[in-house]
Amino acid sequence: MKLNIALLAGDGIGPEVIDQAVKVCDAIASKFDHEISWKPALTGAAAIDAVGEPYPDETHEICSSADAVLFGAIGHPRFDNDPSAKVRPEQGLLKMRQKLGLFANVRPTFTFPSLIDKSPLKKERIEGTDLIILRELTGGVYFGERGRSQDSDTAFDTMTYTRAEIQRLAKKGFEMAMKRSKKLCCVDKANVLESSRLWRETVQAMEKEYPQVEVSYEFVDAVAMRLVQWPKAYDVMITANLFGDILTDEASVISGSMGLMPSSSVGSNVSLYEPIHGSYPQAAGKDIANPLATVLSAAMLFEDLDLAEEALAIRNVVNASLAAGIVTEDLAEGGKSYKTSEVGDWLAQNI
Ligand code: IPM
Ligand code: MN
Repeated sequence: MKLNIALLAGDGIGPEVIDQAVKVCDAIASKFDHEISWKPALTGAAAIDAVGEPYPDETHEICSSADAVLFGAIGHPRFDNDPSAKVRPEQGLLKMRQKLGLFANVRPTFTFPSLIDKSPLKKERIEGTDLIILRELTGGVYFGERGRSQDSDTAFDTMTYTRAEIQRLAKKGFEMAMKRSKKLCCVDKANVLESSRLWRETVQAMEKEYPQVEVSYEFVDAVAMRLVQWPKAYDVMITANLFGDILTDEASVISGSMGLMPSSSVGSNVSLYEPIHGSYPQAAGKDIANPLATVLSAAMLFEDLDLAEEALAIRNVVNASLAAGIVTEDLAEGGKSYKTSEVGDWLAQNI
């Protein structure tokens, strides 16, 4: 198969972790006889520095015409404490999500048997956790009307959802649930928010199309608690943009390291694959960042292109590296650790 993959390394540790995913994908391509043509493009602070904006048109062109987008991370500390900054790297991410129509963000949380002790949570609570948070990504309070009063002392952001936006996300949730344990949880705040009541109404109306799926409805505050108390109670969860942002950071604690969890952002034409961690500027350029979340994101990419064997080969080699102790310092517990690039080399060689 011939694949055109847009490569957006971004900022901080982005380029380092992306390099390892490229090594792994190239090894997969030669093993399974595919031809990958990588199309690098600028994004984030790197793009602001080069062309003055975080998601340039040229990058959008490259992404729109690719079969998939592999993305590192964006964000730079020089913008974080400067509320007056006119352009920010994160705006690039939001613009990209919107322009590419990446409406569904798939964020799985699972545990690795060899790393079960890395989580701050009790082993018996988390062992065997396997859930997916499906976060709506192009609507809600991230994209609703916002502003300031004239005297600038009042600010507002609005959480707006249309029935169609909810239906399209929920449809994906139902379909995923059908392929898994047939359990779907709609996470909202319907006891307070009108937009959440529309979520509930919409999902309830769809239940009859999927009679085999058992649907539950829970409030987001209660889920925040139960997610770390009983993560195994959940399978597929659907939720609004902001709720999903918060819950997926929380869920990453279950697996033990932010450096492990992959994600995909699904659009109608092209989808994007990225680690859930950020740009981790403190580690940038040091060759110490954990590349596994990005490598596992590449596995999701292959899976979505119906290349299941390729995806499995990546997951298997990642498990093998963990079992063999070929890990970066975040997982080494003071024992022997390997550089980011060494982990990538090992993975590529062992595919
Ligand atoms: C994420 C990030 C982004 C978000 C930021 C960087 C805009 O936290 O992908 O979860 O809030 O969506
Ligand atoms: Mn986030």
